[in-house]
Amino acid sequence: MFAVYAAAPNADAPLDSLTVGERPEPEVGAGHVAVTVRAASLNMHDLWTLRGVGIKPEQFPMILGCDGAGTLADGTSVALHSVIGDPDWKGDETLDPRRTLLTEKYQGTMAETVVVPKRNVVPMPDGMTAAQAAVMGTAWLTAYRMLFTKSGLRPGQTMLVQGASGGVSTALIQLGRAAGLRVWVTGRSEEKRALAEKLGAHATFPSGERLPERVDGVFESVGDATWSHSMRALKPGGIIVICGATSGFNPGADLQRLFFLQLRVVGSTMGTRDELADLLKFVANAGITPEIGLELPMERASEGFNAMLQGDTAGKIVFTR
Ligand SMILES: NC(=O)c1ccc[n+]([C@@H]2O[C@H](COP(=O)([O-])OP(=O)(O)OC[C@H]3O[C@@H](n4cnc5c(N)ncnc54)[C@H](OP(=O)(O)O)[C@@H]3O)[C@@H](O)[C@H]2O)c1
Repeated sequence: MFAVYAAAPNADAPLDSLTVGERPEPEVGAGHVAVTVRAASLNMHDLWTLRGVGIKPEQFPMILGCDGAGTLADGTSVALHSVIGDPDWKGDETLDPRRTLLTEKYQGTMAETVVVPKRNVVPMPDGMTAAQAAVMGTAWLTAYRMLFTKSGLRPGQTMLVQGASGGVSTALIQLGRAAGLRVWVTGRSEEKRALAEKLGAHATFPSGERLPERVDGVFESVGDATWSHSMRALKPGGIIVICGATSGFNPGADLQRLFFLQLRVVGSTMGTRDELADLLKFVANAGITPEIGLELPMERASEGFNAMLQGDTAGKIVFTR
């Protein structure tokens, strides 16, 4: 079948191992279901996979794509939940030490067909397109859990999103605005900050600029480049929720500020199937149109990968079939 896959790990030139071609038809084991893919979205995780981060060399070739949407054999339209837990695990599957994401053990969604455990498909709400549903499973689910499960922020409080145009950042902006928070955003260019304002940010600032006042919570996915600003931006008792570190994993900790102002730093990864189902309902109920900056036929996936590698994002990048 047609597929977009990582042929081998390539730490220095990840796009050199990106291949658009053919992979064997997947087998559908007991308790699993085949989904005919209609759309798949691109995440930074796919670039980590091409680099060989979080995946063993013997697992290549690996079809890319952590999330997507498509149809079951009976015609039901579904979004995919990427977190695949051990069948015996009880409770929050993001805490299961044996959990994997699509593209870590299971093949990914950038293909004609993807096979997942039956519980990893969630019906799409009426009116949602396949492209919109395909952005929900990773970036939007991660943003939803950061904001509504982990941060403890209330409507009316002020949130700062580090990064304006990325998948997780744009989801946080749109979710925060719809939930009644005051949304502040940093972005690296005027164009990116203008996008954040279009999506509902109440104010935007160049990366690292001093804010007019301190905020209740900061949402981090950037890491080294923004961490000290995130720490300085918080009110006493405030919280940083972090899901990633695109620019580096080792910022200075600023421990004195951490204990003296009684700040909290909380990690967050993906979300549960129940959170994904609630996210889909929230997006439908609130009338949110998830921002898709680039939509391409799957055959042209390399253009999307290249844009993400260059930092040339304006919302989610989606490949359709
Ligand atoms: N833990 C999880 O479950 C989970 C889930 C999803 C993503 N993640 C992680 O979250 C991160 C973002 O993923 P994504 O898919 O949203 O990526 P993306 O679409 O490529 O977005 C990258 C974002 O990072 C910002 N950024 C990058 N380098 C920067 C720098 N030097 N200074 C300031 N801002 C910078 C960009 O800000 P501008 O808009 O200003 O360019 C952009 O908003 C990745 O590290 C990914 O691995 C983790």
